[in-house]
Order: sequence, then C-alpha cells, then structure tokens
Amino acid sequence: MAGDSYHQERSASSVAPSGCPVQHTWSPLNDDYLAEPYRIATELRNESPTFFSDSLGYLVVNTMDEIERIFLDHETFASVNVQDPVFPLSEGAREVLSAEDFNPVAVMSNRPEPDHGVIRKHTRNGFSNRRMKILEPYMRSRSHSLIDQMEIDGSPLEFVEAFAFPLPGETVFRFIGFPEADDELLKDWCLERKAFSWGKPTEAEQKRIAEQMLAYWRYCREFTASKRDNRTDDFASELLTAHDENPDDMTYQEVESIIYGLSFAGHEAVTSLICNSLVTLFEHRSAWDAICADPSLIPNAVEEVLRYNSSQISWRRITTKTTTVDGIEVPAGMPIFMNFAAANREPDLFENPHEFNIHRTNASRHISFGKGVHFCLGARLARFETQVVLEVLTERLPTLRRADDAPLSYFPNITFRGPETLQVAW
Ligand code: HEM
Repeated sequence: MAGDSYHQERSASSVAPSGCPVQHTWSPLNDDYLAEPYRIATELRNESPTFFSDSLGYLVVNTMDEIERIFLDHETFASVNVQDPVFPLSEGAREVLSAEDFNPVAVMSNRPEPDHGVIRKHTRNGFSNRRMKILEPYMRSRSHSLIDQMEIDGSPLEFVEAFAFPLPGETVFRFIGFPEADDELLKDWCLERKAFSWGKPTEAEQKRIAEQMLAYWRYCREFTASKRDNRTDDFASELLTAHDENPDDMTYQEVESIIYGLSFAGHEAVTSLICNSLVTLFEHRSAWDAICADPSLIPNAVEEVLRYNSSQISWRRITTKTTTVDGIEVPAGMPIFMNFAAANREPDLFENPHEFNIHRTNASRHISFGKGVHFCLGARLARFETQVVLEVLTERLPTLRRADDAPLSYFPNITFRGPETLQVAW
C-alpha cells in the first residue's frame, strides 16, 4: 500500500513517553471494556487523564479539553492514521490489496491540509439541506416498509438484520446514487469493513475482507465511470460535476475514492446509533414513553444517546512533531487514541454524567462527531436519519421492547460500538 493510499500500515509506537503513566492491562478490545466502556473509561480517567497503553502502543487521552485541543491543532496532530489497520496485516491480505488496480487514495478523514480543505469544499455541498429533504421521503417510506415486513414476520425478531442494518445502508447507497438492484451485493461487501481498520481479525478474516474491499473498489470505479455520462440528482453526479469544473482541486481518482469511503462512513455508525438509541430508551422506559407521547422530544433524545451511548467511542491521530499532551512531552510519530467514552461522561461538563436524561440542555456538547476541520460531514444525515427512525418506530410500534435480558454482544474493535444482534418484541 503506497504512501498516499487510503489504508496504510504504520507500526504503533511501543515506547511510552518518559514520565507518562503506563497501563499494562487495559485494551479497548478487552471483553470487560467492550461490555462496559463507560464505567471503565471513567475509572481510567480518574486514575490518569492521559496514559500510554502497552497493549495498543497508543497514547490514550481521556479528557474533553485535551481531545478538543488535539482535534483543533491539525498541524501537530495529523489524521492520516484514522483508516489504518490497528494491527499488522497478514501476508494473504497484503497480497490481495497489492492488486495493481487497488489504488484508492486518502481523501477525507485521512487527508492532511491543505488538500483536505479543498476537497471538502467541493464535497460539502453534497450534504446540503436540499439533499436531506430529497432523502427524507425515502427514509420514511423505507422505514415503514421494513416495519411492514417485521409485522409479517412477527414478534419477536432480530432487529439488526430486520431494520437497523438495511435502512442506513440503503439510505447512503441512494445518497451516493448506487442502483437499488446492487443493494445486497453492496451490503455484503461492507459488512465486515470495521474489522479491517479497527478490529483484530484473524488471518483468514483479513484475507476475506481484503477481497471484499477489492471487489467493492472495482465496483466503485465502474460505477463512477458509468455516472460520467449518466448524471442524475445524486451525490456521485455532484462530485463529478465539481471535478469537471475544478479538475485540479479534486481529481477523478479522488472522486472514486470519496465514493469508496462514504459507504462505510455512512452506514455502520448509523446502524449502531439506531440500536443504541433503542437499547438506551428501553432501559429508561419513561424516556421511551415520553417520546411516544411527544415526538418533538426526539431530536434532543438523539443528542443524549450520542453523548451517553454513542456508536463511535474513540478516534485516532498521530503527532507530526515533538509536542506536549496533558503536560507530557511526546515525540513525533506518536499514535493517539482519543477516548470519547471518557470525555462524553465528564462530570465538569455534564451534570450527573452517568444519568440518561433526554431533557439535558447541553446534551449536544458531546464529541461523538469529532471537531475542527474533519468534523463529521454526515452528522446532519446521521442525526436526521435516527430522528426519522424513532418517529416512525414510536408511531407504529409503541410497545416495542427488548425480547430478552441476555447480555448484548459487541463486535471487538477499538472504535465503533453497537450490539451485534438485538432481539425485540412488540
Ligand atoms: C452516528 C453516526 C456517525 C458518527 C458517530 C460519525 C462520526 C464521525 C467522526 C468522529 C468523524 C471524524 C471527525 C474528526 O476527525 O474530527 C467523522 C468523519 C466523517 N464522517 Fe461521520 N459519523 C457518522 C455518520 C456519518 C454519515 C452518515 C456519513 C456520510 C453519509 C459520514 C461521513 C463522514 C465523513 C465523510 C467524514 C470525514 C470528514 C472530513 O474528513 O472532512 N459520517 N464521522
């Protein structure tokens, strides 16, 4: 994988900066952390706000102030590592991805300034209010048709497969402009992507995911080529027009690469946010009853879920020069793990931080969409989509609840969090 490629292999630092507290046992992949990240993140922050994790080889930053400072100083804290695999790739995966035509480039979340800013300027328009308005009827009618099918299949059922996975996938595919006929293929290719960059897949899993990524990249290239002469009112067509008008700002390969990155960015975290919203609201039944009675409470309830039980609980950076973090001198090349799970429960910022309160006035002060030049481009879409889903579910299935009280299982990875399956009844 070449220097400007979308995914790169960079070895994490195994050396703690001098004077920095070291954690020998914690890892975001530990079973207890996957089950209860908020409790453990709070304990870790209380012990040392910043520490070096031996198992990860990352400096772990747990406070909102420092995380925001890191996000805002993109020259010292680069985002180039955010799509990199955490652990070394297997030979098999490397071989698959060495195919001559596998050449997506770093474009958005992992592209440094000033190029990122130029590309983002042309991409931002695609996420306008106008496009949200175009997508709204699709999201609503698809939510209804998925619920119709749930009613046919009958209560209880598994909600991730029945609703939470298909809806955001299909929404982002319509947003990009992929044809509906390809939905099943696309969902298959994207299903395991989070394991590649954020998990610890086995050698066989890595190879399988690499094959899916290659197939998906080839699909994106063919799709982009077919769109060149067949523009419609979708994001891909807008990108191509922006490229035609400003070919030096955004190259054709960058257009292909944005499309490649977006299907994952726009899918997985929303699936998990929908599930986390339900799990949290079911656990706090009076909050669920309140939004059933008064849907105008839904937008703030979504913000509170993003704070209290987000679908993204960390993000990464890497230092470009010697600097200090939380008063500790840190060399260039130090990978940083920003622990949103700790910051979103900070007591100085949020009153009774471990309480879920849909009326919290500063719920949206969370850091779940990042900050600064890379602030999540899809935040408006993610919020709006989750709001639409809750509106439709509370209207159609107000008795919706968990069908069992078995512990939920969370896919082992360092960043994305949502239950792998969720049995519901109504
Ligand atoms: C609950 C759902 C989502 C969460 C929690 C989330 C979170 C994030 C975070 C933390 C970042 C990095 C921000 C930073 O580095 O400052 C990011 C970037 C990004 N997100 Fe999202 N995201 C979500 C949904 C979406 C959706 C639906 C889309 C698109 C359809 C999307 C597209 C992007 C893009 C393109 C970037 C890179 C922006 C840039 O580098 O300029 N995200 N997101």
